[in-house]
Amino acid sequence: MAKIVGSITMTHVPSIGSAIAKGLQQDPYWKPFFDGFPPVRDWLKEVKPDIAVMIYNDHGLNFFLDKMPTFAIGAAPEYLSLDEGWGIPTMPPFKGDLDLSWHLIESLIADEFDMTTCQEMAVDHAFTLPMALLWPEQKWPVRTVPVCINTVQFPLPTVKRCYSLGQSIGKAIEAWDSDARVVIIGTGGLSHQLDGKRAGFINKEFDLMFMEKLVSDPLWITRYSIEDLVELTGTQGVELLNWVIARGALQGEVLKLHSNYHIPISNTAAGLMLMAGA
Ligand code: DHB
Ligand code: FE
Repeated sequence: MAKIVGSITMTHVPSIGSAIAKGLQQDPYWKPFFDGFPPVRDWLKEVKPDIAVMIYNDHGLNFFLDKMPTFAIGAAPEYLSLDEGWGIPTMPPFKGDLDLSWHLIESLIADEFDMTTCQEMAVDHAFTLPMALLWPEQKWPVRTVPVCINTVQFPLPTVKRCYSLGQSIGKAIEAWDSDARVVIIGTGGLSHQLDGKRAGFINKEFDLMFMEKLVSDPLWITRYSIEDLVELTGTQGVELLNWVIARGALQGEVLKLHSNYHIPISNTAAGLMLMAGA
């Protein structure tokens, strides 16, 4: 059976792409952010996953406000990085894993998650930048399955529903007749608001509590409605739903192997966590 080696959760901000392109990793503004990653890269070299399931929200590159699936999943042999207008370089294409895509689609729909299946899909900064942070040479050693969550156009899925989706993804992978090693990556958050009167809003206390509880008591966050989360973490802080799903995929006791938190990167509180089964 396939094995989930762990979950990595992290922020995605387009300006990370410019910082990589300009080689600013040691610049005082960027250093505390980039310095979080070497332990996770070392861990990846050790556990050698074959496939990355990427849980993220699309920002208008692939889905726009006219058509916004709550939950969508890629089933394509390849996913292209395209220009979103941020002025950041695009990346080499990402290979898909069609077998895992279709296994997940079958299992999740049987579990009553009505996924939108996408046999053609472009991937945005929320997918590409985490890949480039984890594998800076951009020679992707993993095949991928993108899973897109609507964190953009209201109404959004509840936190509880997202946690359950993560559990179903975890169960499906562990039951997959394959010897593949799978890493789950959830991207977005933590607290940030890009627009309106509260633009620039960050809530460090809540973010740190969320990171702690995500490991030891993942149901803690399900007490909050989406509206509560907008108030507590900002309109784009709700991207933390992607972290909740990535955590939900881990079954049994979970350990935090590494974390980093730094304020701000652009308008965002930047968080990073590596979790694995005990
Ligand atoms: C920023 C953060 C995001 O999550 C995003 O998708 C785009 C921009 C920012 O802080 O600049
Ligand atoms: Fe975002």
